[in-house]
Amino acid sequence: ELGPYDHYMQKEIHEQPKALADTIEAVLEVGFSPTLFGADAASRLAEVEGVQILACGTSYYAGLTAKYWIEALTGLPCNVEIASEYRYRDAWAHPKYLIVTISQSGETLDTMEALKRARELGHAHALSICNVRESAIPRASDLVFYTRAGVEIGVASTKAFTTQLVALFTLAGTLAKIRGRISAEDEAAYLEELRALPGSVQHALNLEPQIHAWAQSFAAKQNALFLGRGLHYPIALEGALKLKEITYIHAEAYPAGELKHGPLALVDEAMPVVVIAPNDSLLEKVKSNMQEVRARGGELFVFADADSHFTDSEGVHVIRTPRHVGILSPIVHSIPVQLLAYHAALARGTDVDKPRNLAKSVTVE
Ligand code: M6R
Repeated sequence: ELGPYDHYMQKEIHEQPKALADTIEAVLEVGFSPTLFGADAASRLAEVEGVQILACGTSYYAGLTAKYWIEALTGLPCNVEIASEYRYRDAWAHPKYLIVTISQSGETLDTMEALKRARELGHAHALSICNVRESAIPRASDLVFYTRAGVEIGVASTKAFTTQLVALFTLAGTLAKIRGRISAEDEAAYLEELRALPGSVQHALNLEPQIHAWAQSFAAKQNALFLGRGLHYPIALEGALKLKEITYIHAEAYPAGELKHGPLALVDEAMPVVVIAPNDSLLEKVKSNMQEVRARGGELFVFADADSHFTDSEGVHVIRTPRHVGILSPIVHSIPVQLLAYHAALARGTDVDKPRNLAKSVTVE
């Protein structure tokens, strides 16, 4: 079943071009259409005045990425909250705020309970993004988008995450279209980017030998810091979570602009700092954050793209994806952080597919 692979995680990382192509297929057929989300989606989504996303773990980070897309494309407010927090509080609620739960398994207890809580609080419409058909969370939702990642076995979520991002981008595009916020040309351009995405992800996978080389030095570290800004901050969070889960290296992620507000105190020669730095509008800001790290002796490991114009220098290592893919860049930049964690785990000899203390599906509190 593993074919040429040693681990499910490795297999699932490499299945991403196909998982993404399968998930994108339906979107390319109909464009940003409510029909992608269910029979009565058009009337429900037309009523939406805001979005409340609820999820755990990696799925929560997908939600954080979606907030950038949803607010930028639709003009609607979007909140994202960890399900285990939301379920126990008297959150502000509004019947016309769309509840979006994100869950690979569809069985995560905290996410299910958060959905029930949202209903109690008076939310009228609930949409779920899920990878497992007929699981509990989509069954309890009004609308659903099934990602087509295929079965995910490795505890560390990989292909489920990137396909969730496609689903969420599609939701942002659909809400924007319903609200008259994107032109037919914009929609066509976004769909073209989606069509090209599996190829761009394959190009990122081709960087594996270089990432493997970096991972050897990571394997000996006690700590790591991940930085990103804007759309790439959630990818820094995801990179840190992947590293923690399967290598047991302590890793933290920050929006790079926060460095001076505390975490810079951690930086010295022993601290590797991974930076997600593609050529987006915040690149110059990220570059100055990187100088702050270098000035304290921190070693920089930079995931850039062809347009970000970095070169290797003393204490600065750069790996570039071949092309900047615009608004979908966080999806492409998920790949290198997954590969870094995977290869660092191999070098440390941990159980990649079944890390200690963790279960694939968290059906208890
Ligand atoms: O099945 P779900 O997406 O609801 O799972 C949520 C989290 O438990 C899950 O993403 C977890 O954080 C992963 N092990 C991350 O790799």
